[in-house]
Amino acid sequence: MSNYHIKHLEEYWQVYRKSVRNPENFWEEIAEEHFLWRKKWDKVLSWDFSKPEVKWFEGAQLNITENCIDRHLATRGDKTAILFEPNDPSEGAQHITYKELHERVSTMANVLKAQGVEKGDRVCIYLPMIPELAVALLACARIGAVHSVVFAGFSATALATRINDCDCKMVICSDGSYRGKKKIDLKSIVDEALESCPGVTTNLVVQRTGGEVTMKEGRDIWLQPLLDQADTVCKATVMDAEDSLFILYTSGSTGKPKGMVHTTGGYMVYTAYSFKNVFQYRENDVYWCTADIGWITGHSYIVYGPLCNGATTVMFEGVPSYPDYGRFWEIVEKHKITQFYTAPTAIRALAKENLDYVEKYDLSSLKVLGTVGEPINEEAWHWYNDHVGKKNSPIVDTWWQTETGGIMISPIPYSTPTIPTFATLPLPGIQPTLMDENAQEIKGNQVEGRLCIKFPWPSMARTIYGNHERYRDTYFSAYKGMYFTGDGARRDAVGYYRITGRVDDVIIVSGHNLGTAPIEDAINEHPAVAESAIVGFPHDIKGNALYGYITLKETGEGRDQDNLRKEINQLITDRIGPIAKLDKIQFTNGLPKTRSGKIMRRILRKIAGKDTGNLGDTSTLLNPEVVQDIMDNALV
Ligand code: WT7
Repeated sequence: MSNYHIKHLEEYWQVYRKSVRNPENFWEEIAEEHFLWRKKWDKVLSWDFSKPEVKWFEGAQLNITENCIDRHLATRGDKTAILFEPNDPSEGAQHITYKELHERVSTMANVLKAQGVEKGDRVCIYLPMIPELAVALLACARIGAVHSVVFAGFSATALATRINDCDCKMVICSDGSYRGKKKIDLKSIVDEALESCPGVTTNLVVQRTGGEVTMKEGRDIWLQPLLDQADTVCKATVMDAEDSLFILYTSGSTGKPKGMVHTTGGYMVYTAYSFKNVFQYRENDVYWCTADIGWITGHSYIVYGPLCNGATTVMFEGVPSYPDYGRFWEIVEKHKITQFYTAPTAIRALAKENLDYVEKYDLSSLKVLGTVGEPINEEAWHWYNDHVGKKNSPIVDTWWQTETGGIMISPIPYSTPTIPTFATLPLPGIQPTLMDENAQEIKGNQVEGRLCIKFPWPSMARTIYGNHERYRDTYFSAYKGMYFTGDGARRDAVGYYRITGRVDDVIIVSGHNLGTAPIEDAINEHPAVAESAIVGFPHDIKGNALYGYITLKETGEGRDQDNLRKEINQLITDRIGPIAKLDKIQFTNGLPKTRSGKIMRRILRKIAGKDTGNLGDTSTLLNPEVVQDIMDNALV
């Protein structure tokens, strides 16, 4: 029996039990069998969640790009590694073979070296979904530089915060990007950001849209001429298993984004293992994950996991609605996609359109459908199952987080019977549990609580860059000896998990993780605003949308409210990005507060969600009178 590829439920349970009984042996066997190590480990695992400190494969040496690329050259050199599907279908797809990828990554790595990037340096990557993005990640990894990808929909301020937080000395960006009919001037966003990033000495610019850009002398350099001159061979830098591979920012419940640090060895083992099992990947499959590499899903399941398995992984530059709502399905037919992985919000948006868009295409190549990012509602699940999978492709509802590095709870297709809206069972090696309000573990089934993980797994983030204390406080202090996920979950009669959603101040909008604090900070910058509170409310397509309760200063009274709403949303767009804009803005005379001055979001959430039958205990409020006033004027 191979630990690596689970093929039926019986086998899942056998493997799972083994992984829990002896996790070190379990992961060691997988690590031994399937990867290229320059040196084997001295110790599989050491850990202490109270510090917290976790080390996997200590003493081992490797380079992840040798596992993603070099290892496949002999057997899969001419196989497509990255299949690039551009925004405009008439531009034609590009097939980048493993051999070509090897050359492109090596050449790019040499450019980085020539520009002074050294092992351990942080490089910020701000690129659209073009092949250069994957190449840039791998080129950093090739020479031991730590990449920090910032999603190219983030604003200049958000970009600058992330560049400065981890002291990047280089940025890799493009002149612009295409998204459907829109052309976006990325370079000017970077220019604006870099005005407040004195540490950045070099900005490499990829040409994509060919628009006018200003190049700052001594800082901005076009990438292509450098590539043309660079050597095409680059020896991989040997890394320790616990050396940092990348930083990726995620929202937190306080203002500053958290730079989650992922390390090399454990991340590689876990993403490769989980990819193979969750997608039941077989040689010659064509796998497509529609996420952006700016998020963890793209890091783990467009780049590292698939390439470690020698897979063909699709990178899609465009949007689901361009040239029309059939684009996803047209691509599935054209490239005979076998595994398709997307977000519930995309499914909901497409389910609203005419069925012809999906029925027109031959989707018979599909074997596995996946979702990620937020709970999938029953209606969307059925639409996906009926019209995309034709009731013939299992749906894997995969629960995980930026912090977990890889999929944690998910069906194994063709093994785990699926139930709509259930992420079902933990992957081997993952030990979830539910905790109650008194920090006691909830045993048994048919229960609900806060989702925690009891034991380390190889791809967990090791720290928050530059702030280990915050890492401990956020994830390891609520429940002693456990990693706290921030999510609530139910465990049903057979032990299946159903994720119920965030229990903290993070709101998931269209699959994007947004903290309330940074949005409130942006709103409060408006000179007319005294105070604000953001909550989520259910939305047909986005899952959740944002509702802002805003109290104005005296200076704001009597002003045109529609205009104020526009200004506030513009501020949010400038500070964070358009994804964080508010759907509804209610101007209030005050916000409900506890006696200690904390805003009672629970009440605001209920009002926004039209759930005012029972507001719960309001007796502890300092100012109960504002509640009625807010209810009377609610925008519902
Ligand atoms: C949060 C993490 C993991 C990549 C994308 C998001 C929510 C994620 C599911 C799911 C219900 C889900 C959780 C989690 N979430 N997947 N299948 N069912 N909720 O990564 O931005 O770090 O967000 O997304 O609330 O904590 P992220």
